[in-house]
Amino acid sequence: MEVIILDTAEEAEQFAASIILSKISKESHARLGLATGRTMEGVYSHFVDAHERGLNFSNIRTFNLDEYIGLSPANEASFYHYMDEHLFKKIDMPLENICIPHGRALDIEVEIKQFEEAITHAGGIDIQLLGIGNNGHIGFNEPPSSLSSPTRVVTLSEETRRQNAGAFGGNLGRVPTKAITMGLRTILRARQLLLVATGSHKANAIANAVEGPIRATVPASAIQLHPDPWIVLDREAAQNLEFIDYYKAQAGGSERVADQLQFIYQYMN
Ligand code: F6R
Repeated sequence: MEVIILDTAEEAEQFAASIILSKISKESHARLGLATGRTMEGVYSHFVDAHERGLNFSNIRTFNLDEYIGLSPANEASFYHYMDEHLFKKIDMPLENICIPHGRALDIEVEIKQFEEAITHAGGIDIQLLGIGNNGHIGFNEPPSSLSSPTRVVTLSEETRRQNAGAFGGNLGRVPTKAITMGLRTILRARQLLLVATGSHKANAIANAVEGPIRATVPASAIQLHPDPWIVLDREAAQNLEFIDYYKAQAGGSERVADQLQFIYQYMN
């Protein structure tokens, strides 16, 4: 487990982006798992900058974690629309390389099956980007979620619906109650996990996910079962970690972290 603690949210977003951008610069056909949410906006702005500096995204394939049931891709509150606004329309990825569960599929079970098959067919996900909910969810795997859950339909908690109500004009009644989410089992199959969290409102969820017992009521704690999870935090999100000094010492001596800092220095400043 690599836990990397940066001073500010901006630095954490830049560091997280650098992990994916350096992968793309080495492997133009990389397969990425993507997330939505406020934390990711800063991360994707670095993707757009990299594209403007000449990085080629045209062979990248992406799989998004989740989508609300009942919303079409054109709906401004859909995660498809979010991805289009923050990333896809600003880079050179062909539409056929984008895979996001369709919230208004005629047959949701077929949609779910096809989503899982598309990941398998692509050869699996190289890096899965993750945010974390205040309640410890990843994707829309709400507490409690089976640690080996597949992609499925879930009921959203009221806390999550409140957290996301901003995209619905602040009107909780308009936030869908159900969603499709990539399951924890599918997330854990990605070759690398990259969890990003910023702000003191994430501090409890991060401490529980990284250092607490692995349990269904903290779905993000499933990352402890993964062989190569990276957790990128700002100081505020890291404040409740018991082993904070250890993580800092470990990151300070890590060649992989040094390589990322070098990449940032060379290509992102
Ligand atoms: C959305 C998703 C969620 C968010 C999480 C954090 O695709 O997967 O798990 O990553 O709710 O959201 P923000 O960044 O808005 O705090």
